[in-house]
Amino acid sequence: MTAASREILGRFIVLEGGDGAGTTTQLRLIGEALTRAGAAHWITSEPTANPEGLLIRRILSGELAREPGTLARLFAADRNEHLRGDGGILDRIGRGETVVCDRYVLSSLAYQGVACGMALPAELNSGFPLPELLIYFDLPPEQSLGRLGDRERLDIFEELSFQERVRSAYLEALALLSSSGMRILRIDASRSVAEVSRDILGAIGETLGLSLGDDVR
Ligand code: TYD
Repeated sequence: MTAASREILGRFIVLEGGDGAGTTTQLRLIGEALTRAGAAHWITSEPTANPEGLLIRRILSGELAREPGTLARLFAADRNEHLRGDGGILDRIGRGETVVCDRYVLSSLAYQGVACGMALPAELNSGFPLPELLIYFDLPPEQSLGRLGDRERLDIFEELSFQERVRSAYLEALALLSSSGMRILRIDASRSVAEVSRDILGAIGETLGLSLGDDVR
C-alpha cells in the first residue's frame, strides 16, 4: 500500500520518539488540557495492558527470549486489538472521543525496522489507519537515555547504539509517510517541559479546533 492511499483517522493523535524522549509527561499534560477544555478523550498507550501487551512486556524486560519476527507480530496483534477490539480506538473515535496514544505504527517501523528489517513491520502494519496528527519527539539518544536515569533494569532496547539506529529509522519512516496526508510535527524534545507542551497543545488545539492553553503544572 502506498503512503498516499492510507486511511487517516480523524481525532486520533499519536506521540512517538525514542526511549526517554518525554512522551509520558506530555501525555499527562495533554490529558489535563483536554479535560480543562471539556473535550471527551481517551489517553492510551502501546504496548497495551491487554494480555498481548503484557506478553510483550515480558519479552522487553528480557524475562522471555523471543525471535525479533515474533515480537514484530506480537506488536501488530496488540495494535489490532487496541484499534479494533471492543472499547478500542475505533469505538472511542466513533463515539466522538479524541484518542491520544503513546506509540503506534511508527514505533514498529522504527524499532522492529532495526531489530528485523523494515519489510516485515511495514507489511504487518500496512492495514492500520494513520493518525490525523503525529508528534515526533526528537532527542539525541545520549540525552534521552540519560533521562532514564538510574533505573535498576533497562529494557532490551534501551541501549545507546540501538537507540541511535532507532532514531535514523524513525526519520526514514517519517520521510516515507510524509505524503500520507497525516500531519507530522517534529519537535525538539531537548527543551523544557513547558516549551514542549506549548508547541504540542498548540498543534493539538489547531487540529481539533479547540483552544487548549498551556497551563503546565
Ligand atoms: P515505552 O512506551 O517506552 O514503555 P515504558 O516507558 O513504559 O518503558 O515502550 C516500551 C518499548 O516498546 C519501547 O522501547 C519501544 C518498544 N516498542 C516497539 O519496539 N515496537 C512497538 O510497536 C511499540 C508500540 C513499542
